[in-house]
Amino acid sequence: MRYLRHSDFHYPDSSQRLFENANPLHLEVGFGGGHFWALQHQLEGAVNYLGVEISGVSVQKALAKYRAAHVQSGIVTRVAAEFLIRNILPPDSLERVYVNFPDPWPKGKHEENRFVRTETFELLSQRLKLGGELWLTTDHPEYYQFALENARSTKLFDILETAPPAAALQTKYAQKWQAMGISINHARFKKIASSQADFEPLKVSSSGDPMPHAILTGDIPTQPIQKTVLRGAEYTVILLEGYTRPDKLVVLARIEEPDFVQETLVSVSRRGEGRSIAGLESFGSPLVTPGVKAAVAGLTDWLEAGGMQVVQRNY
Ligand SMILES: C[S@@+](CC[C@H](N)C(=O)[O-])C[C@H]1O[C@@H](n2cnc3c(N)ncnc32)[C@H](O)[C@@H]1O
Repeated sequence: MRYLRHSDFHYPDSSQRLFENANPLHLEVGFGGGHFWALQHQLEGAVNYLGVEISGVSVQKALAKYRAAHVQSGIVTRVAAEFLIRNILPPDSLERVYVNFPDPWPKGKHEENRFVRTETFELLSQRLKLGGELWLTTDHPEYYQFALENARSTKLFDILETAPPAAALQTKYAQKWQAMGISINHARFKKIASSQADFEPLKVSSSGDPMPHAILTGDIPTQPIQKTVLRGAEYTVILLEGYTRPDKLVVLARIEEPDFVQETLVSVSRRGEGRSIAGLESFGSPLVTPGVKAAVAGLTDWLEAGGMQVVQRNY
């Protein structure tokens, strides 16, 4: 089982590249402690398992569980499900998606936070193969009805309501709920058509592309940057005070893009012959997205306004 970070993926990627074989791709969303796949993998034969889970503690627990259960191959990541499906997985790549006991978001106005909702069905209809399935298991009757209604409204899936897979019922919570007589619902949503909706993936530069930067002359300002907000159609960038040294100024950048937030450092540093370079610090392996380029551009504009001369812009 391998652990991959955002920057380890290609944008978009393919199961063939990631696993070096053509086995069917199974995605588990929010695998928690890893109980499900530790058992289910025995029933599935040769498949490529990709598990996404945003909690670092859960990832560590699941990795231990998979090791103990002799799960031979697979990839786990902390990349959020929505981001991964939209930006990393190509069309018609998934054979199956498992969602076991998703966070319920019970209050009406929070329904848009539910993972299984109309928009997800539309997106998954593009990333699943024809006949590929989403398996949803939940103890939350309202969420279950919500998912059924949302799926029906898209007309992109056939729905089969059936008994949950035994492997989904192994967590201590699922056992407790069953002991308390709480019913656990399960439905399989089989793709019958693709949505025409536009899910434009985030444009991420590949590792071979030049890093965004600018070359400047003049003195690096000695005062720290004031909080600056830059808005584009697909991003919001917030530049915040960092620190200054005589030969360097570092700025904290918060970059918000659809389903994705990065906090990274942009800087300008003196390089000799009177020149300075503004660009991205490699700290944290940021993805080079339109928002990141805008952060470098924003810093460059601020340096220009502060009296530096821009010789070259490259972003
Ligand atoms: C209620 S728990 C269920 C865990 C596990 N599936 C089980 O049956 O025990 C929901 C899990 O989904 C994870 N999660 C929530 N949002 C997520 C997202 N956007 N991408 C991936 N995982 C997510 C949470 O961290 C949590 O571990």
